[in-house]
Amino acid sequence: MALRNYEEHEKNTTSSVVNQLVANQGVLFVKLHQYHWYVQGPHFFTLHEKFEELYNETSEQFDAFAERLLAKGDKPFSTLGEYLEHATISEKKYDEKVSAEEMVRHLIDDYQTIKNLALEGIELAGAENDAVTEDMLIAYKEGIDQTVWMLEAYLGNDVPKK
Ligand SMILES: [Fe+2]
Repeated sequence: MALRNYEEHEKNTTSSVVNQLVANQGVLFVKLHQYHWYVQGPHFFTLHEKFEELYNETSEQFDAFAERLLAKGDKPFSTLGEYLEHATISEKKYDEKVSAEEMVRHLIDDYQTIKNLALEGIELAGAENDAVTEDMLIAYKEGIDQTVWMLEAYLGNDVPKK
């Protein structure tokens, strides 16, 4: 069954949530490049490199989730317009200076938003008996927890206890 065009009012399925993840990853990939290019200050070298590591990781995940949709007979979003339309995170033109700390803070917020989507996908995949997608989402969520911990540590914060 091909994934119908995603409509906001439709009930979410594993595939529609994974497709929203793909849209978010598309936006995150571009945003991480923006921060990689524009970051300044005493932590330039650390963050410039870390953001590159994160966009490379995002690129792989983006590809893996889109291909998972194809393997299930669904259609991943594949244009920048679709990513922007369906993403639950947003981007911002770089027309005023963003401090390194603000960049890290924005990324933590974005990763939390994406993690909530992954959690929704895990639940749906469990209910739909889609163990492969469920596994992928669990591994993805674990990676986000790790990234958020590192970004919070960079800011000098503990991760809030859940
Ligand atoms: Fe670069």
